[in-house]
Amino acid sequence: MRRASARANGGRGAFGKVDHRQGGVRVFINRLAGWGAWYIERPFATSSAIMSLPELFRDRLRIPVIAAPMFLVSGPELVIASCRAGVAGSFPTLNARPVSVLEEWLQRITGELGPRDAPFGVNLIVHDNNERLAEDLALTVKYRVPFVITSLGLPADVVKAVHAYGGVVFHDVIHAYHAKKAIQAGVDGIIAVAAGAGGHAGTQNPFVLVREIREFWDGPLVLGGTISDGAGVRAAEVLGADLAYIGTRWVATKESMAKETYKQMIVDSGARDIVYTPAISGTHGNYLWPSLEKAGYVKSDLGQPRPGGHKIADESRAWRDIWSGGQGVALIHDVPSVAELVERLEAEYRLAMKR
Ligand SMILES: Cc1cc2nc3c(=O)[nH]c(=O)nc-3n(C[C@H](O)[C@H](O)[C@H](O)COP(=O)(O)O)c2cc1C
Repeated sequence: MRRASARANGGRGAFGKVDHRQGGVRVFINRLAGWGAWYIERPFATSSAIMSLPELFRDRLRIPVIAAPMFLVSGPELVIASCRAGVAGSFPTLNARPVSVLEEWLQRITGELGPRDAPFGVNLIVHDNNERLAEDLALTVKYRVPFVITSLGLPADVVKAVHAYGGVVFHDVIHAYHAKKAIQAGVDGIIAVAAGAGGHAGTQNPFVLVREIREFWDGPLVLGGTISDGAGVRAAEVLGADLAYIGTRWVATKESMAKETYKQMIVDSGARDIVYTPAISGTHGNYLWPSLEKAGYVKSDLGQPRPGGHKIADESRAWRDIWSGGQGVALIHDVPSVAELVERLEAEYRLAMKR
């Protein structure tokens, strides 16, 4: 693991202490003993001083955020708007159906984004159940997708294929021991998904999840789960993450593919409306209770996975009417454009840095 490099760096963690000029504007970054603190006196761009982020992200993000991939929600509009606004956009390849549509999306995204926009990524589900993995990986390689987010299975083959064209791989985990395995498989970064997140969330509190992973990994680390505002982005950094991973907040944006009624349900919901259940997909996830109630569920149905197992095609049907969201809904009160949202997050993030 990369711990040795932190020691070689005088034990200061991967960031060290840097004071340099960039574009004529003073940038001062001070990260002490792994506690991430940025003091940046210029519009946000990740600094080239941030050694633990892959080259790809440096100087291309307005705020340290990845707009997380979301099943049936993230498409080319959301990705392009996010990257143009200065946040790394991403989408699950399975949102593009059939595979020929994935090629159209990749053509469009790579054609419309320029070198100054934030990088984009795709999410590959590495699971026996995913019959499209080989084809989706081939297109990922063909279009040289800048970063790949792998979920579920161990991604050694994917890592090899993506590294061959110069891309980077982040693996999402809900436990530190999954992170260790992924690091052994050669991933470039870890995405720690904490309790309360939208989608297939974990159960661990972010305070311990990030700190535990930081005990053995000083490479790129991303934290997800309930982050809906700029203070949350800053908190992720203070804990030791390099980037925040935001899903639910991005559902309720103008460019997301979610139905208007779904977006409105997010706006109307509070944390108390989020239920954590294996009943929908067989894996525990967080869902909006009003959507479950509308689909005829009763609370006593929610303790067990549906009998008979799950296929990705079943999940697609289930997620059309049953909507996922994390506890971060509590902070979501409107449906802005992505550009408006990123501007707001940046202002909140700056404010949080002054506290
Ligand atoms: C509607 C929805 C769909 C999601 N679909 C996926 C997915 O297909 N693949 C994946 O890796 N994560 C998926 N996630 C999880 C997100 O990528 C991310 O981990 C999570 O949203 C972060 O927590 P937050 O929603 O509290 O911001 C989904 C989340 C939501 C809300």
